[in-house]
Amino acid sequence: MKDVDFYYFSGTGNTYLVVKKMCETFQKCGIEANMFKIEDSNPEDIDLEHTIGLGFPIAELSTYEFVWDFIKALPEADQTKIFMVDTLAGISGGIVGPVRKIIKEKGYEPIGACEIVMPPNVFFIQDKEDNEKKIKKGLKKAKKYAKALINGKAKWKKDPGLYKAIYYTSMIGLKITETHLSQKMVHLTPDKEKCNKCRTCIELCPINNIEMKEGEYPENLMHCQYCLRCVSFCPKKAIPAKFNYKNKTYHAVKAKELL
Ligand SMILES: Cc1cc2nc3c(=O)[nH]c(=O)nc-3n(C[C@H](O)[C@H](O)[C@H](O)COP(=O)(O)O)c2cc1C
Repeated sequence: MKDVDFYYFSGTGNTYLVVKKMCETFQKCGIEANMFKIEDSNPEDIDLEHTIGLGFPIAELSTYEFVWDFIKALPEADQTKIFMVDTLAGISGGIVGPVRKIIKEKGYEPIGACEIVMPPNVFFIQDKEDNEKKIKKGLKKAKKYAKALINGKAKWKKDPGLYKAIYYTSMIGLKITETHLSQKMVHLTPDKEKCNKCRTCIELCPINNIEMKEGEYPENLMHCQYCLRCVSFCPKKAIPAKFNYKNKTYHAVKAKELL
C-alpha cells in the first residue's frame, strides 16, 4: 500500500483514537501515514498519489453535513485507492453505501470500509469502566482493519437497497437539524453564571459557529451541527448537555488532541 493520508473528524475523541491506532499500525508495517483534520483541510489539496483514508463519527445514521461536504468535494481521481472508517454507538446504515457511490463516481478505487463501535457520546453516557472496555475492543478492531487494508483483505461492501432509505432519512434529519426551530430548541449556549470566557468552545468548534464579541459571552450562531465538542470539553461545564441523560458528558481524549 502507498503512503496513507488520513482525513478525519472527531467530535469527542473516539474517531481520533481509532484513526491514530490505524496510523500507528500502518507505520509499524513500514507505511508512512499522516493525519489531517477535515475541518482544516481543503479537499482540492489532497495528494492523489497517496492512499486516502476517511474517518468520521456517525451522526443521525450517517455523518455531519460538513463531513459530507468534504467527501462530495473530493477531486476526480484515476483509481486512487481510498478507504473509510467510522465510529458509532451502535446503529448507522446511511453511510457505507452512499460514500462508496460518491467516490466510485469520482474515479477512486474503494479498498475498505469498517464501522467501529465506541462509547456513545450522546443520550446515555455510560460509566468509565464500560467506556474503557468499549474503547479497548474498538481499538483492537481498528488495528485488525489496518492490517487487512495492508494485506489487501479489507472490503468495501455495497449496501443493500434498504440502506438508501436510511440514507435519505438521515439527510432529512440533518436538514431538520439545520432549521432555525431546531437550533432554537437545542440552543447550545453557555450559562453566564459558569462561563469564564476561556474560548475553548470557540477554538474547538469545527464550523466556526461560536463567536465572542468584545466583553461579551460566547454566542452560538445557530448553524450548530451538534458534534458536541463545545458541550463535552467545556472546562466549566457551562454549556448544558441538553441531549444527554442527567446532563452527563463524554470525551475520550483531552481537548488539546483535537485542536
Ligand atoms: C448528534 C449525534 C448523533 C449521533 N447519531 C448516532 C447514530 O445515528 N448512530 C450511532 O450509532 N451513534 C450515533 N452517535 C454517537 C457517535 O457516533 C459515537 O459516540 C462516535 O463514536 C463519536 O465519535 P467522536 O468521539 O469521534 O465524535 C451520535 C452522536 C451525536 C453527537
